[in-house]
Amino acid sequence: EHKKIAIAVDGPAGAGKSSISKVVANTLGYLYIDTGAMYRAVTWAVLDQDLNPDDQGQVESILPSLELTMEPSDASCKVFIKGRDVTGLIRQQAINDNVSKIASYKAVREYLVERQQAMAQVGGVILDGRDIGSVVLPDAELKIYLTASVEARAKRRWLEVKGTDNEQPLVEIQESVQNRDEMDKNRKESPLVCVEDAIVVDSSNLTFEETVAHILTLVQETIEHE
Ligand code: CDP
Ligand code: CDP
Repeated sequence: EHKKIAIAVDGPAGAGKSSISKVVANTLGYLYIDTGAMYRAVTWAVLDQDLNPDDQGQVESILPSLELTMEPSDASCKVFIKGRDVTGLIRQQAINDNVSKIASYKAVREYLVERQQAMAQVGGVILDGRDIGSVVLPDAELKIYLTASVEARAKRRWLEVKGTDNEQPLVEIQESVQNRDEMDKNRKESPLVCVEDAIVVDSSNLTFEETVAHILTLVQETIEHE
C-alpha cells in the first residue's frame, strides 16, 4: 500500500508544468488539476461577455453567476462555464493577453483557490499553477518549481502552434511569455515565487521524457521518506 501524496508544481509559462503533470498523474493514478485553465476560463467569460478586463469591479461582479466547474479525467482536465465546455477556447492569444491581469484580482483568486482546495481533498493529487506550493497546498508533501530558460520555453510554445490557426512568430511568443511572467512575479496577490521547500527542476536541457522520469523519482523518494 503506497501512501498517496499531494504534489504542487509551480513555475513560469511554457516550462512544461501541465503536460508533464498530466503524464505523472496518469502514471501514478493521481488526479491532475490544471489551475491555469481556471484562470483562463474566467478570462474567456470576461471577454465573451464584452466586459472590460481592466475594470476590476466589473470582472469581480461576474463571479457569483460564473458557474465554473472542472472535469478532471485521465486524458484531460476540462473546464466548463455554465455547463459549456470551454477547454478548447482558452488557448487563444486574446486569452494569453488578458489572463495575467484577471489573475491579479483578489476576489478572482479567492473564488478559484477555494474550488482548487476542495478538489484536492481526495488525496493523490497533482496541481500545477503559480501559487500551488505557496497558497493552494502549503502542506503538499512534494513541491516542484519547474522552470526553463525563456528561449527554451518560447520555442516550445512556438512548436506547439506552428501550422495551426494560432501560429505566431517566435519573437512575438517570447515577448508574450515574458510579459506574462513579469506580471505573475510582480503582482501583489499570490505572486509566482519559488518557495523555500520547493525542489527546482530546470528542464532547459532535458527532454520531455527525462523531465517526467526525474519528477517520478522525486515522487518515489518523497513517498519513501514519508
Ligand atoms: O500554460 P501557461 O503556463 O501558459 O499558463 P497557465 O498555467 O495556463 O496559466 C495562465 C495564467 O493564469 C498565468 O500566466 C497566471 O497569470 C494565471 N495563473 C495564476 O495566477 N495562478 C495559477 N495557479 C495558475 C495560473
Ligand atoms: O504548463 P506549462 O505552460 O508550464 O507548459 P506546457 O504547456 O506543459 O509545455 C509546453 C510545451 O513544452 C509542451 O509542448 C511540452 O511538450 C514541451 N516540453 C518539452 O518539449 N520538453 C520538456 N522538458 C518539457 C516540456
